[in-house]
Amino acid sequence: MFLMNQWYAAALPRELTEKPIGRTICGQAIVMYRTASGQVVALDDRCPHRYAPLSAGTCRGEIIQCAYHGIEFDPSGACARIPHQATIPQKMRVRAYPLVERWGFAWIWMGDAALADPTRIPPYEWFDSPDWKSFYRYYHVPANYELCADNLLDLSHTPYIHAATIGTPDMDKFPLETWTDGDRVLSRRVMTDVIPGPFVAQWGNFAGKIDRVTNCEWRPACNIAVELFYEDKTNNITLRLTNPLTPETERTTHIWFAWSRNFGSNDESYVERFEQQSSSVQDEDNRLLELQQAVVDRGDPLPTVAIAADTALLAARRTVQRLLREEEATARKATA
Ligand code: FES
Ligand SMILES: [Fe+2]
Repeated sequence: MFLMNQWYAAALPRELTEKPIGRTICGQAIVMYRTASGQVVALDDRCPHRYAPLSAGTCRGEIIQCAYHGIEFDPSGACARIPHQATIPQKMRVRAYPLVERWGFAWIWMGDAALADPTRIPPYEWFDSPDWKSFYRYYHVPANYELCADNLLDLSHTPYIHAATIGTPDMDKFPLETWTDGDRVLSRRVMTDVIPGPFVAQWGNFAGKIDRVTNCEWRPACNIAVELFYEDKTNNITLRLTNPLTPETERTTHIWFAWSRNFGSNDESYVERFEQQSSSVQDEDNRLLELQQAVVDRGDPLPTVAIAADTALLAARRTVQRLLREEEATARKATA
């Protein structure tokens, strides 16, 4: 069960061209494309005529044409033309979903379109600032989206999983402060006089120990932004990890991934090495997420046992449950 009245990252804008792409979001097959005028469109990926996926079709101008018998739909999902006949049955239409490009992602609204307010897209302003160099990537991860969120909300895993990359070995000496603000879950850990992970030492030219601050923000449905600040007496650097996580199915997740830095150069070799390093870090997480899902899939009946480091992830899960109950209550009222 997924929250529907939320914005989910659905694509990178560069993926949206006149060539339709099919993607499953929250269990629903969606087709997305960009029309000749530049409008981005998301529709149900199923022709109402005879089941052909519209993602196999062709975008021509402002319409998409089904590959099978050539029926055409406009960006609102209304049928624009049926070959060989003049009349269009009322039911010959597909559902359209609000789709908005912002901050380097295309965001889809899976619920009631009347409630789709683009101001509720998470405010990731740093993507518009010249102070930050960002790059984007996508991972398809065979694990439930809440397991993927847990990974980012409990960074106490970094000295273990990321020992060879960004982990700080003595992180456990410093408490994690966690609080909520409306539907947001926030956390902060301040660490002083700690050994930086190998990548961090290289990025900041840190020769010895450093101070560091980690700030994390979670917003529903599952958008996580982590700010990592590192400094010694001569230098400081900040890295931002922006991860909108989008459920594909109950056991698979689209991980959208952007790393933004206020350090380093734009030289091709620097960028290439930095992107390679970021991949190594994410790969370390993805391997474990897949293993966790395999344990969930074998139907292990034992409950999990919470520890102090779980505070933020448990708060996020509670918020999702509350919002799900609210969505259900609204839906019940609408059908009463
Ligand atoms: S199945 Fe789409 S036009 Fe026939
Ligand atoms: Fe990690």
